[in-house]
Amino acid sequence: MASTDASREWDDAYGGPPPPWDIGRPQPALARLADTGALAGALLDAGCGTGEHTILAARHGARARGVDLSPRAIATARAKAAERGVEARFDVHDALSLETLGETFDTVIDSGLFHVFDDDDQARYVASVRSVLRVGGHFHLLCFSDDEPGDWGPRRISEQELHVAFATGWRFESLTRVGLSINPGRGTPSVVAWLADLERT
Ligand SMILES: C[S@@+](CC[C@H](N)C(=O)[O-])C[C@H]1O[C@@H](n2cnc3c(N)ncnc32)[C@H](O)[C@@H]1O
Repeated sequence: MASTDASREWDDAYGGPPPPWDIGRPQPALARLADTGALAGALLDAGCGTGEHTILAARHGARARGVDLSPRAIATARAKAAERGVEARFDVHDALSLETLGETFDTVIDSGLFHVFDDDDQARYVASVRSVLRVGGHFHLLCFSDDEPGDWGPRRISEQELHVAFATGWRFESLTRVGLSINPGRGTPSVVAWLADLERT
């Protein structure tokens, strides 16, 4: 379980102006993915924040559910979905314990969650995602790449780290360098990221 401190810290991030990742629209890389039909079936958005990607998936026909540690983010996501007339489910829930959701999914997406965890929690998170994804289902993961210079924000993830994290029980369908858009303030509109398509075996 994530600590109460972690929950409070993440909730605080949503208490003022939008944080860097909360850009008010889907990440372009995930919008392109949605256009391919990949965001389908029973879909979980892990660490959904204010819900842009859950809503994107629902608009593309998925039965979409978003979970996040932050009650503020979940309240905003519910309000956005209602305002936009989109049916999607949102819950405050720890992505390190997805097995307690009591549901399995065809697709899991992650925009910016994996890269916030330390090594131990990354391993727990990967096991947690695997526990709710059906065999043959896909996990689409968008995270900072170690090609992004500097050390502000989340940890940078190397290709090697991804291969270690998903060495057992997963097959890499694709691994692509993409941009991850952020709000103004860092002197750049986007950072270098990985988009991984991982099939649960
Ligand atoms: C960088 S933000 C990305 C949010 C959203 N996916 C987006 O693209 O706007 C990471 C999100 O993960 C959430 N989070 C952090 N740890 C979590 C955990 N253990 N379980 C569920 N959500 C978590 C945070 O509250 C935050 O909303």
